[in-house]
Amino acid sequence: MRPVELQRYIRTIPDFPRPGILFRDITPLLGNAAAFRAAIDAMAAAAEAVRPGAIVGIESRGFLFGAPLADRLGLPFVPIRKEGKLPAARLTVEYALEYGESRLDIHQDALEPGTAAYIVDDVLATGGTALAAAKLVELLGANVAGAGFLIELAGLGGRERLAGYRVDTLMTFEEA
Ligand code: PRP
Ligand code: MG
Repeated sequence: MRPVELQRYIRTIPDFPRPGILFRDITPLLGNAAAFRAAIDAMAAAAEAVRPGAIVGIESRGFLFGAPLADRLGLPFVPIRKEGKLPAARLTVEYALEYGESRLDIHQDALEPGTAAYIVDDVLATGGTALAAAKLVELLGANVAGAGFLIELAGLGGRERLAGYRVDTLMTFEEA
């Protein structure tokens, strides 16, 4: 199944979670074994091209793609979690949401300095979440080898925000 065919498994829900928002629902793709496998295959091929030493997944939907990708490539999986969930010594960065701000944590010993880390999430929208993840990787002295997403919501500035990093996306929706 090619990425263009995978797009059929993304369901668009108008006015969720708020009026005026078109929500791109990945659950039909997760619920179809062939589509989910094809998505992981394609994301794995993109990640493999930069020869990463670790896959970094962003809670929570990034775990759905990052963990199987790490397994597929035989690489360690590193979770970046929302604030206050990781038990050991951690680093935190703040990032802006549409309304207000939030924080992401990583364990201080999660990546050896110099590791080429590949960041994975489901959706690239404004890029704020992925940029915060990139900062955490770099605070540990590791390098961002690239960032991979199932979906790019074009027009929200995410790709521009991640300028300087390699960005791989399987499918694009024009949002603005
Ligand atoms: C969504 C999505 C990405 C992020 C993209 O996560 O899963 O992580 O927003 O937005 P951005 O590019 O504008 O930062 P959300 O924070 O809704 O949480 P979830 O993954 O736990 O559902
Ligand atoms: Mg998310």
